[in-house]
Amino acid sequence: MERLQKVIANAGYCSRRKAESLILEGKVYVNGNLVTELGTKVNNEDIIVVDGVTLNKQVNKEYYLLNKPPGYICSVKDEKGRKVVTDLIDTKERIYPVGRLDYDTTGALILTNDGDFANYLMHPSNEIEKTYLAIIEGIMTTEEIYELKAGVTIDGEKIVPRRVKIKKRDSLKNKEKVELTIVEGKNHVVKKMFSRVGHPVIKLTRERIAFLDVKGLQSGEYRLLTNSEIKILKKLKKGK
Ligand code: URA
Repeated sequence: MERLQKVIANAGYCSRRKAESLILEGKVYVNGNLVTELGTKVNNEDIIVVDGVTLNKQVNKEYYLLNKPPGYICSVKDEKGRKVVTDLIDTKERIYPVGRLDYDTTGALILTNDGDFANYLMHPSNEIEKTYLAIIEGIMTTEEIYELKAGVTIDGEKIVPRRVKIKKRDSLKNKEKVELTIVEGKNHVVKKMFSRVGHPVIKLTRERIAFLDVKGLQSGEYRLLTNSEIKILKKLKKGK
């Protein structure tokens, strides 16, 4: 017996967190009965219908690395009809992005139908490093760099970057290129961090997720992760 939200995520329908909201919203039926309790356990024979779709529990797990172009939403569908990142991947499986990059943010994004893997990558306690390259307005002073490195509080949580590197200073154009590595994945976190120290982000790219970068992939191109990359990613958890 497994928890309903875990089974929905493992079937590749969506992330576990999303599955929990769908259950609470009354969109999940087990053997024809509406289930709105998160603790509900199900077995392999149970027929689960989510938002009108019967779950196929025998899914092939797929793992992609996409070089996300600007102008795409990190979702499987968008109410406003904007383009979504899953449009870029040619697959029949119900894959979804692991975490969010903003509409205008580019770079490394993993998509998968493996709910456990997605959860593991997203959870900050697993300390998967994400490295961003930001072009920011203005030139940071020594004090501002210190403030950023010491950690800034975003939505009540102190975010201390793993690394901050000034890559290029352009005093003439009054902007600067900064590489920032963090393990948190909150929405808009990098933009909020730079804004907090007085330097709004002009352009943002995610260069790396752990050791994975998008070298060799043009904007909008993707590739499958190799078995060994998946294995290494799964072992990155601190202390494992
Ligand atoms: N932080 C942001 O501000 N935006 C992103 O797209 C990713 C991280």
